[in-house]
Amino acid sequence: MSTTSDSVIEYHQRTKHQLNAYAKGPESLDWDDQPNPFRRFAGCETVALPMHGAELAVLFGELDQPVKFSDKPLNLQNLGLLLELSFGLSAWKQFGSDRWALRCNPSSGNLHPTEVYLLCTDEGLLRPGVYHYVSHDHQLERRCQFNDKAFSGELYIGLSSIHWREAWKYGERALRYCQHDIGHALAALSYAASCLGWTVELLSEVGDADLAHWLGLDREADFVALEHETPDLLCRLHTGQSNFASFDGKALSQLFDNAEWFGEAERLSGRHFYRWPIIDEVAKQLEKPQTIAERWQAPSLSLPVPSHNLPASQLIRQRRSAQHFNGKADSLPLADFLRMLAALLPNHKAPFTAWNWPPQVVMIVFVHRVDGLEPGLYVLPRGAASLTELKPVCSADFDWSPVDAPFEFYRLTAGNVRQAAKTLSCHQPIASDSAFSLGMLARFAENVEAEAWRYRRLFWECGLLGQILYLEAEAAGVRGTGIGCFFDDAVHGVLGLTDNTWQSLYHFTVGEPLDDGRLQSLPAYWHLNG
Ligand SMILES: Cc1cc2nc3c(=O)[nH]c(=O)nc-3n(C[C@H](O)[C@H](O)[C@H](O)COP(=O)(O)O)c2cc1C
Repeated sequence: MSTTSDSVIEYHQRTKHQLNAYAKGPESLDWDDQPNPFRRFAGCETVALPMHGAELAVLFGELDQPVKFSDKPLNLQNLGLLLELSFGLSAWKQFGSDRWALRCNPSSGNLHPTEVYLLCTDEGLLRPGVYHYVSHDHQLERRCQFNDKAFSGELYIGLSSIHWREAWKYGERALRYCQHDIGHALAALSYAASCLGWTVELLSEVGDADLAHWLGLDREADFVALEHETPDLLCRLHTGQSNFASFDGKALSQLFDNAEWFGEAERLSGRHFYRWPIIDEVAKQLEKPQTIAERWQAPSLSLPVPSHNLPASQLIRQRRSAQHFNGKADSLPLADFLRMLAALLPNHKAPFTAWNWPPQVVMIVFVHRVDGLEPGLYVLPRGAASLTELKPVCSADFDWSPVDAPFEFYRLTAGNVRQAAKTLSCHQPIASDSAFSLGMLARFAENVEAEAWRYRRLFWECGLLGQILYLEAEAAGVRGTGIGCFFDDAVHGVLGLTDNTWQSLYHFTVGEPLDDGRLQSLPAYWHLNG
């Protein structure tokens, strides 16, 4: 094992929440000094994007077979829709004098560390260069202009994280949440592209140093200290008949030799009271080098039609995190439950079309109220692990009784697991008042010891699966919520896991939401229409 992997595993260990102590975070929060969730670069030309709020006809269930509907042309209007349905605002909420925006992509604590860039070499679409998307204003800021003739007309989407935004509230554990958010964002982008008949290709070969250069993140002087951005991933957009020629990073790099940059990032926080140096230290260890291109393709799988088969764009905009669940709600219909689990299996549709690796994550499901299914603890292997791999490392007390389902699904133990789910998820009632909640168990040591940066990828996979659950929950007429706060080793203890071969990296819960009547809702872009 490398020392890099050692320090990543050490970071993981020290940022575990324990039943008797939470990971290190701020002792108090100055809400007036919350980092601005909207980054802007002062001194850039802006490009307004048209068409926020347009509904597309394609139904959510039709995304299961993307070949069946035709793709939209790539123009500014549809580019605007792509960005809106992935990262745009979906509503404003108001309580008293406090007002905050929600977006199509979720984020731990609604802090939104993810930033989005376009890298455009398509002259017909935008002046070739690098653009930063500002979701608040639904516009692009032109950060960079290519002065050399672009080699081909392509559009890339880059994602990065401002760790400080998340660390401000969550301290040392924040880096994990930034990675979950990237997984959610990648899936949100893939779903949005799919609504337009497009696909997103994650360029797994790109190294972080190149990506930082291409997105302008290595231009230290353009950022306030402690508010820098860390590169995460680069995708290529495929529309219509665009071919999947191999990606030419060298040709792309050459465009930057004569490029011109504009703008400086505006300050996000008045001050940076608490500091969490471990985040920068481990981020350095997690840097991804350039690697060979990996493009694992999931098999195709036919899924039953979702019970609320609404337009996909409508479901994407109505997606919310439930803050409370009705603990006395009727049971979730079994068909809805099975559709949700089936959608988590690798499949030849969004968002798995944007994922390049065989599954590494198994679902441990706490079933509370599902029609025809005994409450208890279950496991959905997802092809990420076989019974022979999991069984020997888990508690010897488990039954492993196969459930009658169209995929591999086992009951580990029957009984009321509501209290256990709640306690393990930092005592949050959202884990017990729902129809079911789950823990995402990732093949950990093998990945992190092979290449330390895969640590980030494991969280991305969890975030991607969380985004599937968010949208599938809406399509089942219920609602989901991501759960980043859980007691890591207590979860492992319940499963009988004694080492770090498998680690729980994310939790999720789904059920009938209880709305908070005190909150007022405002339309997503009301502030631009006045
Ligand atoms: C990675 C992640 C972790 C989260 N953890 C929790 C949690 O532990 N408890 C909770 O109530 N909500 C949690 N949430 C939900 C967020 O608070 C929610 O996404 C955010 O407030 C934005 O609201 P929205 O999802 O309705 O857009 C989490 C969301 C994400 C993406």
